[in-house]
Amino acid sequence: MENKIKIVVGTSNPHKIKELNEIAKDYNVEFMLPSSENFDPVENGETFEQNAEIKAKEAARVSSTGEFFLADDSGLCVNFLNGAPGIHSARYETTPEKRIQKLLSNMEKAENREAHFVCALCLVDKSGKILHREEGKVYGKIALEPKGKGGFGYDPVFIVKNINKTMAELTEDEKNTLSHRGQALSNMLKWVQTKL
Ligand code: IMP
Repeated sequence: MENKIKIVVGTSNPHKIKELNEIAKDYNVEFMLPSSENFDPVENGETFEQNAEIKAKEAARVSSTGEFFLADDSGLCVNFLNGAPGIHSARYETTPEKRIQKLLSNMEKAENREAHFVCALCLVDKSGKILHREEGKVYGKIALEPKGKGGFGYDPVFIVKNINKTMAELTEDEKNTLSHRGQALSNMLKWVQTKL
């Protein structure tokens, strides 16, 4: 497709760009890293929405090129833990394995194991004006032990509602279709395609 809409993503992770472009392959949209290495947002928001906005605005501020800037913030919210680890999901412990172990040990006495993943997306223009937001959620429960080898983060202990497999047991395509990030992104792509 010619003349793709180029969107700079508030991340310094090239893997994220690859993943987004894979999900967006049927859209007239191309995602790219910020042109500057000075992308260093202070993620001090109190909600996923606020942190996504902080990262999108920081990408707009530091990039010398680009018209549109997108960022996401996501995490796992567990009912028994009053929504934790929530916006602190990435910092709950120092490694993915330790984060899972900490979660399972905090859940030892839990009868209610319900949880959900959230992904907030925020799209801004070069001046930092918010153009559009999307939020995706996927519901499920926390497993008693890890299962599956796919995905990342908390995927091996998150059993997807009505599917009864952990997120780590799904194929990449299956996860992209039903995940919080997949849903939020596909709605954002539809908006971008028709409104920009
Ligand atoms: P980020 O905002 O995309 O950097 O995600 C924050 C943290 O939430 C990640 O480091 C993971 O620990 C957790 N997380 C977010 N999305 C997922 C997911 O799809 N699977 C498993 N863990 C996730």
